[in-house]
Amino acid sequence: MSNTFPKHTPAEPENLSDTTDFDHAPVVGARSDAFLDQTLRPASWDEYIGQESIKNNLHILITAAKERQTPPEHILFYGPPGLGKTTLAHLIAHELGGSLRATSGPAIERVGDLAAILTNLQPGDILFIDEIHRLSRNIEEVLYPAMESGVLNIIIGKGPSARTLDLPLPPFTMIAATTRVADLSAPLRSRFSGGVFRLEFYSEDEIAKIVERSARILGIETAADGVREIARRSRSTPRTANYLLKRARDWAQLKRTALTKDAVDASLGLLEVDQLGLTPVDRAILLTIIERFHGGPAGVSALGAALSEEPNTISEVHEPFLLQLGLIERTPRGRVATRAAYKHLGKKPPEDLNERLL
Ligand SMILES: Nc1ncnc2c1ncn2[C@@H]1O[C@H](COP(=O)(O)OP(=O)(O)O)[C@@H](O)[C@H]1O
Ligand SMILES: [Mg+2]
Repeated sequence: MSNTFPKHTPAEPENLSDTTDFDHAPVVGARSDAFLDQTLRPASWDEYIGQESIKNNLHILITAAKERQTPPEHILFYGPPGLGKTTLAHLIAHELGGSLRATSGPAIERVGDLAAILTNLQPGDILFIDEIHRLSRNIEEVLYPAMESGVLNIIIGKGPSARTLDLPLPPFTMIAATTRVADLSAPLRSRFSGGVFRLEFYSEDEIAKIVERSARILGIETAADGVREIARRSRSTPRTANYLLKRARDWAQLKRTALTKDAVDASLGLLEVDQLGLTPVDRAILLTIIERFHGGPAGVSALGAALSEEPNTISEVHEPFLLQLGLIERTPRGRVATRAAYKHLGKKPPEDLNERLL
């Protein structure tokens, strides 16, 4: 697929200005480092590693729309932070030759904010709304007709003299991203007729490629086994991998040593990122389920309270990765620690573990 997309030059600086990455939990590297994200953000499809199925589908959507000389239909990306949602929005805008107008759910407080954004769009612009799950319902209702039929309905005046005004909008594509797709209302989700795409965690090989590219861009010399070790501990997440690369580089520089596996082991050990890539918070979640909740099931809000963490942070940032590793399972009554979690923490599983997992 990478060969079928025409090559293009990196985005203009103004297209890269990105105020839409929000701070996530203090989990290693999930906290968005806006500068690092921008420096390392792939500027062409060739550089965007992995997510092959999404790239193939986008290629068809975009190529067909280009042939018809219409903007592609609206697109939604969802998945944990740092997997490349914002990057895809930039790549699509670039591919279409339009500008990316970036905003976010929490930034659109009033209907007037949305009206201002929509009426300022130029033909062919891409509207990117990050954290779309945080849009309020009354704003969603103004968004529906704008997405569906390209009109902005605004109500002028109050009471009996109120009237609606239908403003036609220039043709545009909306791209939205969210870490919480379940929070989107069904009507909103159904408006993304171009596609709703879930980003997948990356394989170790894919992350290794990303780390190698980042090292080249940042001018960091790496040993192959050092790259491997970073990839192994990266939570299968490009943003985390880039963050760990920088931290390991700092350590190796101060120790006057090469960025080998030993250097990565030592530096990530200091960050308390373990062999599986778990952070202290990940381990605390497992330990709390195992000790406080006797293995579970434990609800997310109960876990949040026990750990003094935001329940949203647990479910958006930590839980997807723990599920991916098979360290926890979701049951209708809450989260249960699996045998692998006991093993990882060196604990003895309870006799009735299998029943808890039902
Ligand atoms: N597929 C990918 N290939 C290479 N680098 C990637 C990829 N996806 C993400 N990245 C890197 O991770 C950073 C974070 O990605 P981003 O698109 O901001 O994630 P999200 O919006 O899902 O939180 C990017 O700046 C980029 O450096
Ligand atoms: Mg993002």
